[in-house]
Formats: sequence, C-alpha cells, structure tokens
Amino acid sequence: LVVKKYTVAIIGATGAVGCELIKILEKRDFPVGEFRLFASKRSAGRLKEFKRESFAVQALDASSFEGIEVAFFSAGSAVSKEFAPILASHGALVVDNSSAFRARRDIPLVIPEVNGYEARGKRGIIANPNCSTVQLVLAVEPIQRAWGIEHLFVATYQSVSGTGGRAMRELREQSLAHLEGRPLEKEIYPSEIAFNLFPHIGDFDSEGLNLEERKIVFETRRFLRDESLILSVTAVRVPVFRCHSEAVALITKKTTTASEVADLLRSAPGVRLMDGKDMASYSTPRLAEGRDEVFVGRLRNTLPEGHGISMWIVSDNLRKGAALNAVQIAETALGLGYK
Ligand SMILES: NC(=O)c1ccc[n+]([C@@H]2O[C@H](COP(=O)([O-])OP(=O)(O)OC[C@H]3O[C@@H](n4cnc5c(N)ncnc54)[C@H](OP(=O)(O)O)[C@@H]3O)[C@@H](O)[C@H]2O)c1
Repeated sequence: LVVKKYTVAIIGATGAVGCELIKILEKRDFPVGEFRLFASKRSAGRLKEFKRESFAVQALDASSFEGIEVAFFSAGSAVSKEFAPILASHGALVVDNSSAFRARRDIPLVIPEVNGYEARGKRGIIANPNCSTVQLVLAVEPIQRAWGIEHLFVATYQSVSGTGGRAMRELREQSLAHLEGRPLEKEIYPSEIAFNLFPHIGDFDSEGLNLEERKIVFETRRFLRDESLILSVTAVRVPVFRCHSEAVALITKKTTTASEVADLLRSAPGVRLMDGKDMASYSTPRLAEGRDEVFVGRLRNTLPEGHGISMWIVSDNLRKGAALNAVQIAETALGLGYK
C-alpha cells in the first residue's frame, strides 16, 4: 500500500504554535513528503528539526508557494489575511490558527470531535478556534446536546504561551528581576505578569468586554448552535507558562445532576474526566502540559441540585488549543482518520 505524502508548509514555524506543530506532525506520523518552513525575515536560515532531519526556515514569500498541498498558518492575523487566500486559490488545504477567518460564515470553524463533518473532504481555508474556546466547547457541547444549556459562566486562567514566545520570555525575565530585587520591565502586557494577574486579554470594547472574552462568546455560540445563549466570560491572564484553566458553571434547560454529566463526559471524545474523590479529582496546568486531552474535574452540583453544574477544565493551549486541533483538522479534511 502506497500512502500519499503531502507537501506541507508551516507559516510561523519559529513561534510557540509553529514549534508545537512540527512536534505534533512528527509524533502523529503525518504523511509529510516535502516540508517547508516559513517565518519572518528575522528567522531566515534558522534550522528546525523534523524526523531527525534539519530544515532551514525561509522568509515568507508567496513566490515559494508552488506545490504546497497542506499549509498551517500560525503567524498572526495580518499574515493569514494576506497569504492564506493565495494558497487556498492554488487548491491547498489551509488550516489557520489566527482569528482572521473565525467570524466568516463561509469558512468552517472546526473542532473535529464536535463538527468534523464540516472539514471532511474540504480544501481551502478552515479556521482553528481560539484556544480557550476549544477546551470549553469539548466539555460543554455534549451537555448542550443532552440537556440544553441556558446560561454559561466562565472565568479563564490563561497562560502566557497563549500570547506567544515573547510573552513567555517576559514572564521569565520579570520573575527573575522580581526575585533579584531589580525593577520589572514591561513590553508585551499592560501590567506586570510576574507574581501578578489581570482580567485584561486584548482591547476592551464599548460594552466592557475584552477581545478574548468576545472571541469566546462568539465562537462558543457558534459551536453550541445557539446565537442567543447567555454567556458570561471573564478572561484572566495568570503567571503560568503553559496550559489554560477554566472555572465553568452552567444552568441546563432540562434538569440533570453531576453524576449524569460525569457519565456522559466519561465517554466524550477528547475529554478526560478526573472524578476521583481525592486530590486526583482535578488537573493543574503542570499536569496537563504536553498532554492531548482536555481534563475536566471538580464536577459538582450547583445548588439546588438538578439545575446547575460546575466544573474545572484544564488543557494545553499549545496542543488541543492550537497545534493538535489544527493537525486533527487536516487529518479529517484529508480523510486520514485522526488518532
Ligand atoms: N499561543 C497560543 O496558544 C495560540 C492558540 C491559538 C492560536 N494562536 C494563534 O497562532 C498565531 C501564532 O501564535 P504564537 O503564539 O505561535 O506566536 P509567536 O510565538 O509570537 O510566533 C509568531 C510566528 O509568526 C512569525 N511571524 C511574525 N510576523 C511575521 C511576518 N510578517 N511574516 C512571516 N512570519 C511572521 C514569527 O516569525 P519570527 O520568529 O521570524 O518573528 C513566528 O514564527 C497567532 O495568530 C495566534 O493568535 C495562538
């Protein structure tokens, strides 16, 4: 049996998501034939390793797009808006990690476990959702299907890798400076991130929501197929390097209990239910790092029993929240069947 191999490109190959994409393509043995890595001019010539071979990063230039069949974009919205349509017009499958196309109704927004049918056989652009949305939706969409959700309340605790490589450096440098009694220098974030946190992820709108909160509201309504779902989201940046956590409370339309929800989530794809009665009943960012699953724990009734459920969700934002979901989208579109 000859397995077709694809000419695969990563645009943004030196970034936090790009580096994870390279690892995941290797780990899942994605059928890569030719492999092309792109970033900004700053990184031209840098070497990245894939399956024990070195690949030189090229400066992004549409004239080198010839022959690319599968492209993963993780270089920010502006780059996606400019270059993704060019590749799509060549017939390539383009999985975009940025927010450039997530609001476009004519472009599928996909979490394979939830709406993989929208990706099957598709070429052109498919949008990968926001990292906080992916882990939330994987846990609550089965509940929506079974009982309906009336209200959803979410507080996020988001790591700095969600902002990218430079923000990870800012947390490291500020932490060292603080411990050594030196002044902290701010470059990326509006407030100091070391030994601190702030409910401020992206710009605020006239209604007081920040950009991350708006993305979560919009995308979650789309995945739960309910434009008028009442959602209250507070997005908080915390001094954690990797993995996002979420405290979630919801009120269902039909009555249910925590044990019924646990039975449902135990077999929900992509979800790992942690329902021990001891310390193991929840995950932490450190435990979820490098893992594929979305960990759901501290599942409990919100009084009065039968009307509300609360839970704690943790997932690796660079994996299921970004690179892993992107690769699973490509596997689904190409009919490779994802693992
Ligand atoms: N981090 C997450 O959890 C996450 C989750 C979901 C989606 N995303 C999205 O994924 C994208 C990348 O995020 P990230 O966290 O990986 O950011 P990052 O660490 O800052 O990396 C950005 C990447 O884009 C490249 N790049 C920047 N400007 C470019 C340009 N003009 N031309 C070509 N390449 C350029 C950078 O190359 P140089 O190294 O040469 O500068 C680098 O490879 C963003 O759109 C982000 O919103 C991130």
